[in-house]
Amino acid sequence: MRSLPQTCASSIKKLLALFSLMSGGEKIVECVPNFSEGRRADVVEAIAAAVRETEGCSLLDVAPGDSTNRTVYTFVGRPESVLEGALAAARVAFKLIDMTKQKGEHPRLGALDVCPFIPVANVTMEECAELSRRFGCRLATELSVPVYLYEYAVAVGNDRDYRRTLPQIREGEYERLRNKIQKPEWAPDFGPADYIPSWGATVTGARSFLIAYNVNLLATKEQAHRIALNIREQGRGPSQPGRLKAVKAIGWYLDDQDLAQVSINISAEFYIQREGLFLMEERQKVRLAVERLGLASLGEFKPEEKIIEYRVGSCKDGPLLSSSLRAFLSSLSARTSAPGGGLPAS
Ligand SMILES: *[C@@H]1O[C@H](CO)[C@@H](O)[C@H](O)[C@H]1NC(C)=O
Ligand SMILES: *[C@@H]1O[C@H](CO)[C@@H](O)[C@H](O)[C@H]1NC(C)=O
Ligand SMILES: *[C@@H]1O[C@H](CO)[C@@H](O)[C@H](O)[C@H]1NC(C)=O
Repeated sequence: MRSLPQTCASSIKKLLALFSLMSGGEKIVECVPNFSEGRRADVVEAIAAAVRETEGCSLLDVAPGDSTNRTVYTFVGRPESVLEGALAAARVAFKLIDMTKQKGEHPRLGALDVCPFIPVANVTMEECAELSRRFGCRLATELSVPVYLYEYAVAVGNDRDYRRTLPQIREGEYERLRNKIQKPEWAPDFGPADYIPSWGATVTGARSFLIAYNVNLLATKEQAHRIALNIREQGRGPSQPGRLKAVKAIGWYLDDQDLAQVSINISAEFYIQREGLFLMEERQKVRLAVERLGLASLGEFKPEEKIIEYRVGSCKDGPLLSSSLRAFLSSLSARTSAPGGGLPAS
């Protein structure tokens, strides 16, 4: 689903600056907003420019999808800069994206569909959760749009378990939001409980790194869809769960490449807990998930190619660039020893 970064060449200076910030103990957060536009290049670029022009933000990757009509942006920086970058991007999207006209294969609730904050260095999950709450509050206030919190941004032990994960909140999608948002149990965390047709709603929160495993198939969209339903925990509904616990999956057709694809978000934490293992290293967690899920049964699973965050490091623009990016990424794995670290899905 995500392609190699086009922004590699320009990122090296920013990344080098970033290493020195990290070793100096600076807090670094990654933000991965998903906007519901992947076809109009001028819109995709205008949103990217808003991030790039925000002081202190390094845009690492822009991955537009044609069939999904959706673009995933990846950028890093200090918490305050990342917050401003996400808001700047959202303001541009507010002007340019009209959800009443949006069609695409990926489930979505709004123009800025989801905006997770991910701890990278010297920062805790709770700090990222707090950052996402501040982001949600400002977004809702400035643009008068509804905002929902998810994952770590939702307090534990309250009665909110029914609206903690992305699929729960996104259920019914944009098309059913008009009714859903009026129900008291679906009142947004910030902003009006109003249906804003051009925007829909935004979900924000904090999460850890994610493994997105995409399998290309010479098959139809329907076959890819059925495979995804067989795999994912949600399955075909409560009475027919899928095979893999804590796994999210979706099947779609990539018109631009004439390929069907099953896109799977997988989590090592589930197996670590179930088997009472104590794994600190991210690489070990990845190996565990790959083994238990049988991802290598048909062909070698190369983490550098299959894992979104590692792919940023395999840029072909030159050895200096790749090695500094790799150093950057391997320094990230230190982070997973922190409580709450690991690789759960979205
Ligand atoms: C900040 O994080 C970097 C990279 O993870 C680490 O090398 C450095 O020691 C940390 N600094 C502090 C003060 O924790
Ligand atoms: C893609 O989404 C945009 C909303 O930003 C919409 O205007 C456009 O019509 C969509 N394109 C297609 C082909 O659905
Ligand atoms: C996988 O995670 C990405 C990043 O959060 C998200 O955009 C995508 O919707 C997720 N896919 C599924 C099938 O849940």
